[in-house]
Amino acid sequence: MKKIDNTFGVGVKCREMMEFGSDEELRNCLMKVKGQKFMVVGGGANILFIGDYDGVVLHSKIMGIDTSEDKDGTVLATVGSGVVWDDFVAEMVERGLWGVENLSYIPGEVGGAAVQNVGAYGDEFSNAAEWIEAIDIEDGTLRRFDAKELGYGYRWSEFKGKYKDCYVIVRVGFRLCKNGKANLTYKPLAEAFEGKSEVRLTEIRQELERIRWSKLPRPEEVGSAGSFFKNPVVSENVYKTLAEKYPEMPHFVTEGGVKIPAGWLIERCGLKGYRHGTAGVWDRQALVMVNYDLGGRRAYEDVEYVYKYVIETVREKMGIELEPEAIII
Ligand code: EPU
Repeated sequence: MKKIDNTFGVGVKCREMMEFGSDEELRNCLMKVKGQKFMVVGGGANILFIGDYDGVVLHSKIMGIDTSEDKDGTVLATVGSGVVWDDFVAEMVERGLWGVENLSYIPGEVGGAAVQNVGAYGDEFSNAAEWIEAIDIEDGTLRRFDAKELGYGYRWSEFKGKYKDCYVIVRVGFRLCKNGKANLTYKPLAEAFEGKSEVRLTEIRQELERIRWSKLPRPEEVGSAGSFFKNPVVSENVYKTLAEKYPEMPHFVTEGGVKIPAGWLIERCGLKGYRHGTAGVWDRQALVMVNYDLGGRRAYEDVEYVYKYVIETVREKMGIELEPEAIII
């Protein structure tokens, strides 16, 4: 049995762990696991294991960040799926390339970011991704998807839909530029730079470091998967009924309806800072479920209790069904 790295810090194990550093190594791994139970895990930043995994875990070690400049002055960065997401962001910021700076400090690896369409602070993965290369699990062929083919949406891609369990991501191509402009659509970011005529890339990254860690737990100190729930999108009618009772409720009108912050709903139910055993609801951002017992063998039992209790309470008090964003295995 091998330990599975995960930012929740639950001490779970899998039957076997296989790492691959190239497309060819991945093909060999896929031949070996044929007929066996297996899954692909990236940085383990968006997963809650509620017990040991009785199968093989595949993990990408395909590294490398290669850049090439195009005639139009933009830069294509080709990045291996095993690269730590924030190492990639840090390098782009350092080299003065715009396009992923708002996604600073998000835990996880490039492959996972492509499946999940990671998003934060007014930006998301799909805004910078141009193509995604993946190996077909059945026949080992390499396929390059145009990012537009993958139905990217809020925490969504077709790798979670029609291509689920069909491909393993090996590389992503990102389009970046040398003369970008700060994206200050996230209100706290705009507030931080109010009145400033020019904002540098490094300043954005610095400010996001402050914003992020003032709200979210640092994975090396307290276990979590970042946001545990998606922000629910409700119909205009459901929104109106709730807004009558809670006129101060934050909300954002989107294509599919009205998005309400799950963190606000959970806090309004009195659950911010709630504790049960070794787990709880983070006291500075209520949509984060946390584990205080890093590496604890049975910590997942308490986390499971807490997240289910949160769903039930929000359902009873607010009439809204929260949906986990994290994958539960
Ligand atoms: N709010 C509360 N109480 C809370 C938490 C939030 O009232 O405990 C309110 C805030 O006051 C604010 C609103 O909810 O009015 C939104 O809060 P915040 O800006 O912190 O963002 P979020 O909607 O809670 C989302 C992402 C985060 C991302 C932030 C910033 C989801 C599920 N989460 O959180 O993503 O960092 O926006 O862009 O969409 C992640 O996915 O792991 C993650 C951390």
